[in-house]
Amino acid sequence: MMKGLKKWRLFSLLAVMTVFLSACGEDYISTLKPAGAVGKEQLNLLLFSITIMALVVIVVSFLYLYAFVKFRRSKQGENHMPKQVEGSHTLEVIWTVIPIILLLILAVPTLISTYKLADVKAMDEVDEEGNKSALTVNVTAKLYWWEFEYPEQGIVTAQELVVPTGEKVYFNLKAADVKHSFWIPSIGGKMDTNVENVNKFYLQFDEESKDLEEGVFFGKCAELCGPSHALMDFKVKTLAPEEFEDWVASMQATEGQVASPDSTDLGEATFANSCLACHAVSGVGASGAMGPNLTTFGDRNRVAGVLEHNKESLEKWITNPESVKPGNLMTGKYGELSEEEISAVADYIMSLSVEE
Ligand code: CUA
Repeated sequence: MMKGLKKWRLFSLLAVMTVFLSACGEDYISTLKPAGAVGKEQLNLLLFSITIMALVVIVVSFLYLYAFVKFRRSKQGENHMPKQVEGSHTLEVIWTVIPIILLLILAVPTLISTYKLADVKAMDEVDEEGNKSALTVNVTAKLYWWEFEYPEQGIVTAQELVVPTGEKVYFNLKAADVKHSFWIPSIGGKMDTNVENVNKFYLQFDEESKDLEEGVFFGKCAELCGPSHALMDFKVKTLAPEEFEDWVASMQATEGQVASPDSTDLGEATFANSCLACHAVSGVGASGAMGPNLTTFGDRNRVAGVLEHNKESLEKWITNPESVKPGNLMTGKYGELSEEEISAVADYIMSLSVEE
């Protein structure tokens, strides 16, 4: 019998698990509520394998319990010797053939899906005018933030991936420093971003994110990469194709946008002197910047990926980034700013927006 204390411990463990796992069902982050074709296929495969495995567990447990009850010594008598089946040809064949059949049933759909989901040939397809027919996004993972470059559109953004719904979006994944892993749980499985090679895969976004609780899907880094690994979040905005085109156009319209050190606006001038060397404010460009591109900062859902999106959080981040994301590469990269300058520069950054 379980002692009172042990029972209590088990109960509290279950209670804690309930609290932790209760967030797992949210549709902006749950693998179990896929919002795209890739995630759906992976979930089906998962359920299919679990069903087969559960059947095996049930049948084996049943046979075990059956033998347990049926051949009790108290029932069969002290000197009963059961039928000896060692080396039985029939039994050997049965318990070799059944697992082979089960493994084949598991392997065929798994292999078909694996090859299908890894097929990125369409990435290189072009139409009559020589334009790429599929949308490609180059993802670069950097110590605790994400850069998203759209090479065909000539634009780049950070921390918030914006994609159209209802079509395959292809990804070139790489890392700038250490290994990370790109994961949007409700859209599909993760894939590593490495320094030495480019991994490719595609995802499909079938639901518009505006109906979600926060208007975005949540993305994560899924490879332990340093002290702020758990804070290396990004968000995903999925738009109807026409709205996506509008977004691309407004990003392209920011070409040449820059902060001037001579501006009469204290925030812009401070930004130009202290921040511009690492952070661009034009969405037109390529990947490879030191710090996240801030062109769409005002449209974002979080500050630094994790803090609430308001001026207060931004001031906290600028004042002491280390307290928010230990080990980040911004700490100590700019001179002391006065309180007035921090407030002004926060206003300026919050005003950067391409959405209406
Ligand atoms: Cu990047 Cu974990």
